[in-house]
Amino acid sequence: MAGMPGSDRSGNDKYTLEDASADSMLKLIIFGPPSAGKGTQAQRLSKEYGLPQVSTGDLLREAVAKKTPLGVKIKSYLDTGRLGPDDLIVQLIKERVSKPDCAKGYLLDGFPRTMGQATELDKMTDIDLVLNIVVDHESLVERAVGRRICMKCNSVYNVTSNPPKKAGVCDKCGSELIQRDDDKEATVRNRLKVYQEQTAPLIEHFRKKGNIVDIDGSKGIEGVYSQMTAAIEKVRK
Ligand code: AP5
Repeated sequence: MAGMPGSDRSGNDKYTLEDASADSMLKLIIFGPPSAGKGTQAQRLSKEYGLPQVSTGDLLREAVAKKTPLGVKIKSYLDTGRLGPDDLIVQLIKERVSKPDCAKGYLLDGFPRTMGQATELDKMTDIDLVLNIVVDHESLVERAVGRRICMKCNSVYNVTSNPPKKAGVCDKCGSELIQRDDDKEATVRNRLKVYQEQTAPLIEHFRKKGNIVDIDGSKGIEGVYSQMTAAIEKVRK
């Protein structure tokens, strides 16, 4: 697999596998286009490795729902599938990862998404592994349009590939499932375009640092999960 840790990560320091486990810290990025399955996998990995899932999308949706000052500013970006301003997003991440539950590492889901955000992240910390989910764009549109989420516990379902036991009800907390406003087909296609233009170029940035691994996202949820845990185990040893 190309670009596994062990090669040069940042500056001239040589990164070794021991670095990841030396202080039992693990910092991961789940990367990929809209609806690739980042949130689905992040929730499982979070449980498996005891790492908090830090999802910019979830944090922003929560801010919008609560009508906080950030939520009011960011709402129109979410509704249209545009990326929020880097300064707001970086501030949000800095505040979140400085909380005590992130002291032993975390799992970034949906951040960074622009070169500006990646540069700020590089100044903040080193990342052990970027899990890059690769899926063709037509499947992504289908996945997004069929997605249903629980606004209470953020669990993710799909009406075809991952339905809840009872239609419209969260298996985990019993709350009502909703369709995200930005999961309408036209908005999804715009999000894919934004991804292609502003976020996909980061793959090259991670390849240069040597900490990215490609994950075949066309497999089912279990198949994707086992590829991810195999890659993580390599950096934990
Ligand atoms: P965000 O919530 O991060 O949206 P996204 O990146 O577009 O990702 P999604 O949540 O759509 O998908 P996912 O990859 O998590 O897939 P999921 O697991 O749900 O961001 C929303 C908005 O917030 C952005 O548009 C932007 O405006 C703003 N924003 C967020 N971060 C930002 C940042 N850093 N900078 C600026 N703005 C930012 O799965 C999708 C569906 O597929 C589900 O139904 C699931 O059940 C199904 N599924 C999952 N895996 C599989 C599989 N292997 N096979 C079949 N189906 C599957």
